[in-house]
Amino acid sequence: MVVWSPFRFNSGHEAANRFAMAPLTTDASHEDGTVTEHELEFVRRRAASGFALTVSSAAYVENDGRSWQGIGAAHEGHLSSLQRLAAAMRAAGGLAILQIYDGGRIAKPELTGEQLRAPSAVASLRPGARTPRAMTADEIESLIASFGKAASLARQAGFDGVEIHGANHYAVHQFFSPRANHRVDQWGGTLARRMNFPLAVAQAVRDALGPTLITGFRVTPFESEAGGYTLEDAKLLCNELAGLNLDYISVSLDDYRSSRPVGETRVYNGPPEKSFSPAENPVTAFARVIAGRSAVMASGGIKTCKDAEGAIEKGADLVAVGRAVVVDPEWLAKVRSRSEASILAGLPKEKPGIAGALSIPPRMVEYLLSRPGWIPRL
Ligand SMILES: Cc1cc2nc3c(=O)[nH]c(=O)nc-3n(C[C@H](O)[C@H](O)[C@H](O)COP(=O)(O)O)c2cc1C
Repeated sequence: MVVWSPFRFNSGHEAANRFAMAPLTTDASHEDGTVTEHELEFVRRRAASGFALTVSSAAYVENDGRSWQGIGAAHEGHLSSLQRLAAAMRAAGGLAILQIYDGGRIAKPELTGEQLRAPSAVASLRPGARTPRAMTADEIESLIASFGKAASLARQAGFDGVEIHGANHYAVHQFFSPRANHRVDQWGGTLARRMNFPLAVAQAVRDALGPTLITGFRVTPFESEAGGYTLEDAKLLCNELAGLNLDYISVSLDDYRSSRPVGETRVYNGPPEKSFSPAENPVTAFARVIAGRSAVMASGGIKTCKDAEGAIEKGADLVAVGRAVVVDPEWLAKVRSRSEASILAGLPKEKPGIAGALSIPPRMVEYLLSRPGWIPRL
């Protein structure tokens, strides 16, 4: 079966199989952005179940862009924390990838102590969202440099690569979105100029890592919100990203079959927004455009081996698994040994049992349970 076969990236790194652990924010880091023991245990146990590749929770690259209390890759003070994280992720022999992000207009000022800054002074659709101020051209250049610096820290910390979080409505996504980016300078105005920030970040990260480490980019394949970018727009972006010799492009969907992206208001299990669904499956569409120049990683709704095979049939080279591994840390080992019947289907009813038995940081348990319908419960 293809899912158990190895895969070689452009950088020369080999993934032992096609399974990646998806980036999963725990919201449980120390206030200064250093990793906690609970987070290390969360990722160590899950990575050890056999993932060829483990992607970290998203690490902020600038303090002003923090969207939750997660890990940082913003300065030298984060280096030893990143080293510990890379070691935990690689303990069982898989590849360790650091995901990096900036929150832009969906950062949390109560964490950053700063006023929100974003491509334009346009509030997000999230309930209670505040209006950010538009970034200056110098701030944009310096944010691109911060992504590059975070990638250098990842290299020094021993990661095998970096994934740029260009999806799910964070800053890189915002620059690409005509809804969030109303600029009229080189960073906005036309589709070509809205690509400049994502491409500059990708280039900065590529340059910082060099050709022998993995550079990945996660993208939301289209916006389901009115006036958002389309799948056709994102195909053009992917074409440019593949031209930069990226190792992989990860397609962020709530479910890879139903072509439903994560909405800006984060209603994960609401009614499908059919009116904006493209005719073509985004994984298949991207695989066609990329045409083997970079790998395609699919995600969303993978709960069984058959689901993973289905994503490969749609054109993915790799699959990333999120909620299934939150709920069952041994998910992949059970899939591999064909014991799918024993996979835990949801978080236990009893809250006190969750953190210890499943190695989920207690703060993450609170965060998961605060969004009913997101993570299945037994
Ligand atoms: C608790 C939790 C935290 C997440 N954190 C991140 C993150 O830091 N970065 C990211 O790109 N996606 C994040 N996601 C999205 C997942 O990586 C994944 O794309 C999504 O859950 C859909 O895949 P699934 O159906 O396998 O869960 C998170 C999802 C969950 C459930």
